[in-house]
Amino acid sequence: MPPARNVELKAHDPDPEATHRAAIAFGAADAGTLTQRDTYFPVPRGRLKLREQDGTTAQLIAYHRADAATARTSSYDRIDVPDPDTLIGALRATHGPGPVVRKERRLLLWENVRIHLDDVAGLGRFVELEAVAADDAGDLDAEHRKVADLRAALGIADDRIVAEGYAQLLTRVAAPDDLIDGARVAMGRAYVPYSHFRVGAALRSVGDAATVHLGANVENAAYPQTQCAEASAIGALIAAGGTRIAEVAVMADTPLITPCGGCRQRLAELAGPDTPVHLCGPEGVRQTVTLAQLLPYAFDAAAMESGA
Ligand code: THU
Repeated sequence: MPPARNVELKAHDPDPEATHRAAIAFGAADAGTLTQRDTYFPVPRGRLKLREQDGTTAQLIAYHRADAATARTSSYDRIDVPDPDTLIGALRATHGPGPVVRKERRLLLWENVRIHLDDVAGLGRFVELEAVAADDAGDLDAEHRKVADLRAALGIADDRIVAEGYAQLLTRVAAPDDLIDGARVAMGRAYVPYSHFRVGAALRSVGDAATVHLGANVENAAYPQTQCAEASAIGALIAAGGTRIAEVAVMADTPLITPCGGCRQRLAELAGPDTPVHLCGPEGVRQTVTLAQLLPYAFDAAAMESGA
């Protein structure tokens, strides 16, 4: 079966009751409340989540959708899952952990458009419009038109539109500000007369959630003597009495900063495979990954133990 498609729009909703009234007045029917738990898995392409609904049904949903502050097309496959716990365990073991999104969803239906009034744990209230395309639909102009009409009827202004998915928003919220603020300060202090490429790193050490250890890249006229931001931050953590790394933030003004290979190895010396690494732009976290995702098959001290 080819993937199903829909046209989606997501927005903050400061007044869900008013939205509900406007939707009913526009002809939508209330289809009740659903309790959903979506477990996400890190994947190289698209998105993958396991949705459990009302604690009774489960589906694996694989989908592709652009992050854009406008109505966008999503294409998706849904597969019924009889044993969600085992699948979650198997996918976590092979793909690593991802965020879990819990929400109460009030569902309204208008023609082929689903209206979701979502109360998302940790994020707040949202309204989503999802025009589901028929299997044989060609272009999705009709779906775009319906979303636009409904959006107008519900009075959803531009400044309320949300570009990202709940999972990404949650990762952002979960990243503690002091770590990100620290990385930003360190980035501003980088010594980069040659590359002009500023990198800031911030580390939290195990057993001391309150302190943030900072590092910036420090370049040198003898280029190979340059020190990366992560290496500087590791030095600061050790000098402050830290022993193990609990959480990492790396920041640069580039689409997605990732630690260089050498720094992945440096981090792995003091961190575990599940240690979160927040990859940040100046405005905040853009993606959170685990160290195991950055450095699979890591070489570490344990690898030498069974040797000669
Ligand atoms: N850089 C870092 O500080 N961390 C990384 O993981 C990648 C690269 C710095 C080193 C150098 O000063 C500049 O970025 C360009 O390579």
